[in-house]
Amino acid sequence: MRLLVIGGDGYLGWPQAMFLSRKGHHVGVVDNFLHRQLDQKGGTDSLIPICSLEERIAAWGEVSGERIEPFSGDINDYAFISDVIKRFKPEAIIHYGEQPSAPFSMIDRDHAVFTQVNNIVGTLNLLFAIKEHQPACHLVKLGTMGEYGTPNIDIEEGFIDISHNGRRDILPYPKQPGSFYHLSKVHDSHNIMFACKVWGLRSTDLNQGVVYGVETEETALDERLATRFDYDGIWGTVLNRFCVQAVIEHPLTVYGQGGQTRGFLDIRDTMRCVELAILNPPAPGEYRVFNQFTEQFTIRQLAELVKETARKKGLFLEIAQEDDPRVEAQAHYYNAKHTRLVDLGLKPHYLSDVLLESILDRLFRYRHRIRKETILPLVDWRKTRNPCGYGPSTGLQGLAIELWGNRLFSEGNGARSWSASAINAVPVSRWNMASDGAVKPR
Ligand SMILES: NC(=O)c1ccc[n+]([C@@H]2O[C@H](COP(=O)([O-])OP(=O)(O)OC[C@H]3O[C@@H](n4cnc5c(N)ncnc54)[C@H](O)[C@@H]3O)[C@@H](O)[C@H]2O)c1
Repeated sequence: MRLLVIGGDGYLGWPQAMFLSRKGHHVGVVDNFLHRQLDQKGGTDSLIPICSLEERIAAWGEVSGERIEPFSGDINDYAFISDVIKRFKPEAIIHYGEQPSAPFSMIDRDHAVFTQVNNIVGTLNLLFAIKEHQPACHLVKLGTMGEYGTPNIDIEEGFIDISHNGRRDILPYPKQPGSFYHLSKVHDSHNIMFACKVWGLRSTDLNQGVVYGVETEETALDERLATRFDYDGIWGTVLNRFCVQAVIEHPLTVYGQGGQTRGFLDIRDTMRCVELAILNPPAPGEYRVFNQFTEQFTIRQLAELVKETARKKGLFLEIAQEDDPRVEAQAHYYNAKHTRLVDLGLKPHYLSDVLLESILDRLFRYRHRIRKETILPLVDWRKTRNPCGYGPSTGLQGLAIELWGNRLFSEGNGARSWSASAINAVPVSRWNMASDGAVKPR
């Protein structure tokens, strides 16, 4: 099949592109290198060194004999993405290309606006481009389990059968997201469901849990094929962060009581879940939701597990309770259904001592690269202005202005608030990042 991976330079998108290419699909990747840019500006970095997209693709060609086609650009640029879809003619699009961090979206107004514009407008552009050029294409969209929040009833896969005042219907499951980032995913879901209804598009919304792991079969083939690995307070997800803390014997920092329960999955299962969705597409006009995770844990359980595994390797750790920077229930009911991908054939990799040990071994090799000062959380959900990077400045405004013009990001003038005319007026820039990290206009 012809498959287009949006966000194909990221933690999940790059291994996904190789996974699908190795299965014999013709794969294209789209990325604007936003994550690399934000790292440079914010003082964060992938723990595992990663090659440029150009170098990765060349290495993949050498190792596998397969070709991945790159498209450098921003999906917020409609001319760019519609042209890619028109020319590449994907049968499925796998959409990983969003700003993926909840803390980033809660730094301040600029970061919240940046996140929601980047994510919601990007997805909206994809929907329009699919409708105009490739209406039978299946959109596989990465959402998150965080869209649901933590209701005091079972969480269903996307829809709930409700009886109300003597009448019955099947309706979208209520969403109670926990950050402006999670809200962007909820807004995406509504836009996608609407486009399926009015234009007959087909889409699978994958409400993914928290992903852990460093390696897939493809990244293990050659060092140059490694995927990024984030561990800092902005980009790192919880289990990956605990593993990094473990290898430098830093206390495992549990936010609040640690009774927060979430769904988790191994990065190798992410690859397979997406493949299963592609191989079993929805009907035209169908919008469906799969809950994509394999196990649920409390944060404290994960900390205990990492502590115990590290102990067997001679690393002695404390578990430290930090004030919870997030606004979230500390202990709650959590029972989220996740049977639809298993019904399609998913055979989960469960979190075991063996896997955790292999993650710790891999990370140990890079412990000299760990920037300790970036591990602790900077962003307090209760504040509207937080420090925005671990370096002198994130320069987010500069980047946003380069991408979308300055109207959305100026302060102190009521007349310049967020409005449709502001969107229409913004120039859209296109740029490429060369292997030396320099950003150049296309
Ligand atoms: N990693 C997880 O645990 C997890 C869990 C649930 C959902 N997700 C979702 O999966 C997706 C991928 O997450 P990830 O961890 O790989 O993040 P990532 O930041 O490593 O990858 C995202 C990629 O998308 C690119 N991108 C962002 N905005 C873009 C734009 N406007 N145009 C083109 N490219 C753009 C970035 O440069 C980056 O390479 C995200 O949508 C995220 O919300 C991730």
